[in-house]
Amino acid sequence: MYVCMCNGVTEAAIRRAARAGIRTLSELAMSTGCTAGCGCCLETAEVTLRDAVSAELQASRAARADGMLALA
Ligand code: FES
Repeated sequence: MYVCMCNGVTEAAIRRAARAGIRTLSELAMSTGCTAGCGCCLETAEVTLRDAVSAELQASRAARADGMLALA
Protein backbone atom coordinates (compact mmCIF):
# COMPACT_ATOMS: atom_id res chain seq x y z
CA MET A 1 0.00 0.00 0.00
CA TYR A 2 1.27 3.45 -0.87
CA VAL A 3 1.64 5.80 2.08
CA CYS A 4 3.19 8.70 0.18
CA MET A 5 1.89 9.26 -3.32
CA CYS A 6 4.17 12.24 -3.98
CA ASN A 7 7.30 10.15 -3.61
CA GLY A 8 5.98 6.62 -4.16
CA VAL A 9 6.78 5.40 -0.65
CA THR A 10 5.02 2.21 0.41
CA GLU A 11 4.24 0.81 3.84
CA ALA A 12 6.79 -1.94 3.10
CA ALA A 13 9.45 0.68 2.38
CA ILE A 14 8.75 2.34 5.73
CA ARG A 15 9.07 -1.04 7.48
CA ARG A 16 12.36 -1.67 5.68
CA ALA A 17 13.57 1.78 6.74
CA ALA A 18 12.70 0.96 10.37
CA ARG A 19 14.64 -2.31 10.09
CA ALA A 20 17.59 -0.28 8.79
CA GLY A 21 17.52 1.97 11.87
CA ILE A 22 15.28 4.88 10.84
CA ARG A 23 13.49 6.13 13.96
CA THR A 24 12.06 9.58 13.22
CA LEU A 25 9.95 11.21 10.51
CA SER A 26 12.86 13.50 9.68
CA GLU A 27 15.11 10.51 9.10
CA LEU A 28 12.35 8.85 7.05
CA ALA A 29 11.94 11.96 4.92
CA MET A 30 15.67 12.15 4.28
CA SER A 31 16.00 8.46 3.41
CA THR A 32 12.80 7.90 1.39
CA GLY A 33 11.30 11.29 0.61
CA CYS A 34 8.14 10.32 2.51
CA THR A 35 6.32 13.47 3.82
CA ALA A 36 8.72 15.72 1.89
CA GLY A 37 6.14 16.78 -0.71
CA CYS A 38 2.59 17.96 -0.02
CA GLY A 39 2.58 16.52 3.50
CA CYS A 40 -0.80 14.77 3.14
CA CYS A 41 0.81 11.49 4.21
CA LEU A 42 2.21 12.82 7.48
CA GLU A 43 -0.25 11.13 9.88
CA THR A 44 -0.22 7.79 8.07
CA ALA A 45 3.57 7.87 7.81
CA GLU A 46 3.90 8.64 11.52
CA VAL A 47 1.60 5.78 12.56
CA THR A 48 3.26 3.35 10.13
CA LEU A 49 6.76 4.28 11.28
CA ARG A 50 5.76 4.09 14.96
CA ASP A 51 4.28 0.60 14.46
CA ALA A 52 7.33 -0.53 12.47
CA VAL A 53 9.79 0.79 15.06
CA SER A 54 7.79 -0.84 17.85
CA ALA A 55 7.85 -4.18 16.00
CA GLU A 56 11.60 -3.84 15.45
CA LEU A 57 12.23 -3.12 19.13
CA GLN A 58 10.10 -6.09 20.19
CA ALA A 59 11.93 -8.38 17.76
CA SER A 60 15.26 -7.09 19.03
CA ARG A 61 14.27 -7.71 22.66
CA ALA A 62 13.05 -11.22 21.81
CA ALA A 63 16.30 -12.00 19.99
CA ARG A 64 18.33 -10.77 22.98
CA ALA A 65 16.23 -12.85 25.38
CA ASP A 66 16.75 -15.91 23.17
CA GLY A 67 20.48 -15.25 23.17
CA MET A 68 20.53 -14.97 26.94
CA LEU A 69 18.63 -18.23 27.28
CA ALA A 70 21.09 -19.93 24.93
CA LEU A 71 23.97 -18.76 27.12
CA ALA A 72 22.34 -20.02 30.34
S1 FES B 1 1.70 12.26 -0.22
FE1 FES B 1 3.55 12.24 0.91
S2 FES B 1 4.37 14.19 0.62
FE2 FES B 1 2.57 14.20 -0.60
